[in-house]
Amino acid sequence: MKVLLTGASGLVGHATMQAVLGRGHEVLAVGHAHLPNLPIDAAAKKRAQAAQIDLTNDIALDRLLFDYYPDAIINCAAVSSQAAVEAQPELAEKLNVALPRRLAQIAFHLSAPLLHLSTDFVFDGDNGPYRSTDVPMPRTHYGQLKLMAEKEVLRCGGDHVVVLRITVVNGNSPSGRRSLHEKLFHSLTTGKPATLFSDELRQPVSAINVADVLTELIERPNLHGLFHWAGPDTLSRYDIGRAILKHFDLPENLVVPALSADQPDAHTRPRKLEFILPPLLGKLKAQPTPFAQQLEELVVPAECQEWYQRTRVASNKKPSAPRRLVQGKDF
Ligand SMILES: NC(=O)c1ccc[n+]([C@@H]2O[C@H](COP(=O)([O-])OP(=O)(O)OC[C@H]3O[C@@H](n4cnc5c(N)ncnc54)[C@H](OP(=O)(O)O)[C@@H]3O)[C@@H](O)[C@H]2O)c1
Repeated sequence: MKVLLTGASGLVGHATMQAVLGRGHEVLAVGHAHLPNLPIDAAAKKRAQAAQIDLTNDIALDRLLFDYYPDAIINCAAVSSQAAVEAQPELAEKLNVALPRRLAQIAFHLSAPLLHLSTDFVFDGDNGPYRSTDVPMPRTHYGQLKLMAEKEVLRCGGDHVVVLRITVVNGNSPSGRRSLHEKLFHSLTTGKPATLFSDELRQPVSAINVADVLTELIERPNLHGLFHWAGPDTLSRYDIGRAILKHFDLPENLVVPALSADQPDAHTRPRKLEFILPPLLGKLKAQPTPFAQQLEELVVPAECQEWYQRTRVASNKKPSAPRRLVQGKDF
């Protein structure tokens, strides 16, 4: 199958490229500021191409799709955080709403499945755990845009589309700066402990696991509509941080707890984001990855390696071999 993959230089897209190639498909991996890292494995590399394209440019987008003529489209491109949406609201509207709408229109035209990613931030966090049939109530502009996109994709794509809402993602991004542990590491290299909320509950999901689900979904064109996917475990942000530190043999007092409810922007922060995974859970071979197993997938960001070796030794914990580097070094 020929798969057009957008956002292939990002956290979820990079993992998805590996999963799709691992299943023997062909991929056109699209990034924008960064050229996606293709596999070093010769057999997989033969089936992969990388491109850098501004997908907010409609002409470039149409040319890309009609030249490549994919059998399936996976959209992982986005302005993917509230802070980034606030910084660039016009770009966010184009990338998070107009792009998925256009992809859905073209997918319908090509009779190709489109998989589009959305977020738990479409909910306010007051009345979870949430089913995909529950009424969304976003608290942030990011959540509002993602909700608008869901509606547009489902409206324009008909039976050809899956909208997969996912929760906060654990994994290794090509930039080494995108995921939960990568942000924590970079924050700690400033020399200050990180403050994490003990009253915000999240259900982290593994990027590799999301990638497996997306790959299974392109092979199952009978499945369409709006679905939820997450890991099986719910933890506070503070407990997630502590578990990451423990996993990497770092001192647990490098994170300190705080209450989200005490913050001036508390009204914009969903307190408890949890998903109910059926019906998708019962329809797929892929199963959610437990949080403990997600930790095993993580590697130290390359830029933090020196700090890590210093701090880890200083923590007086059991010695072990330096952890593997990431950031394109595997590819
Ligand atoms: N990460 C999470 O915790 C999380 C949680 C829930 C839902 N999601 C959803 O999952 C999806 C993937 O998120 P992610 O965390 O993997 O995102 P990410 O790491 O921030 O990657 C975003 C991707 O979008 C691409 N992009 C940005 N501007 C572009 C443009 N003008 N034209 C083409 N491509 C452009 C980036 O390419 P360049 O870097 O090359 O510019 C990058 O590949 C998003 O829909 C997000 O809303 C993520």
